[in-house]
Amino acid sequence: MKAKFITLEGIEGSGKTSSLKSITDLLDKKNISYIVTREPGGSSIGKELRAILLDPDTEISPEVELMLMLSDRKDHVEKIILPNLEKGNWVVSDRFMDSSIAYQGGGRQLDKKLIISLTDYLNLPQPDLTLLFDLPVEISLSRVKARGELDRFEKEELEFHKRIRNTYLDLAKNNSNRIKIIDSSKKIESMLNNVKQAIEKLFSE
Ligand code: TYD
Repeated sequence: MKAKFITLEGIEGSGKTSSLKSITDLLDKKNISYIVTREPGGSSIGKELRAILLDPDTEISPEVELMLMLSDRKDHVEKIILPNLEKGNWVVSDRFMDSSIAYQGGGRQLDKKLIISLTDYLNLPQPDLTLLFDLPVEISLSRVKARGELDRFEKEELEFHKRIRNTYLDLAKNNSNRIKIIDSSKKIESMLNNVKQAIEKLFSE
């Protein structure tokens, strides 16, 4: 079986990170070798970019933010994602290209077509499966606020997060073969069950 590339997407507090354990448990059970990584911050340069990008004191334009996210991604692909897939390791990434379309396109209102053509230019691998964790923004933000200190994105207004959610849902509609919506407003067991089913489908491909 060819190594698969799985990405997790969603608004803040959507349950992406908490579902990771059930994904890795499944891969372990199947004896599949894998790595778990994230964006921004998957590579060593990326870690420095992440610190800048999430720092609430950073003042940058949406265009600079986009370029830093794309720099992080290209380096992550070159140093971590492709070498692992080539070695036969599955790659599970907490966020990837859909985040740039949703956050910088939807949230910051940059031209989405331009972002897509920039990502085409960067020649990025296409995920085999993207799980989109979805729930109403009001619920997700209340979870995030309960977690403690807010980063530069979490501090944004409600409308910013609503635009991100809507952009994600449009992406899912237009890429229904790749993107599977996971309803995060459901009880955790039922949500994790849906995650499991989506991952298990990959085993037979
Ligand atoms: P992180 O703490 O990893 O967020 P979460 O826990 O919700 O995954 O922070 C990453 C932040 O960066 C998150 O707010 C989304 C944002 N982001 C973008 O705006 N564009 C991008 O292309 C990526 C990868 C992330």
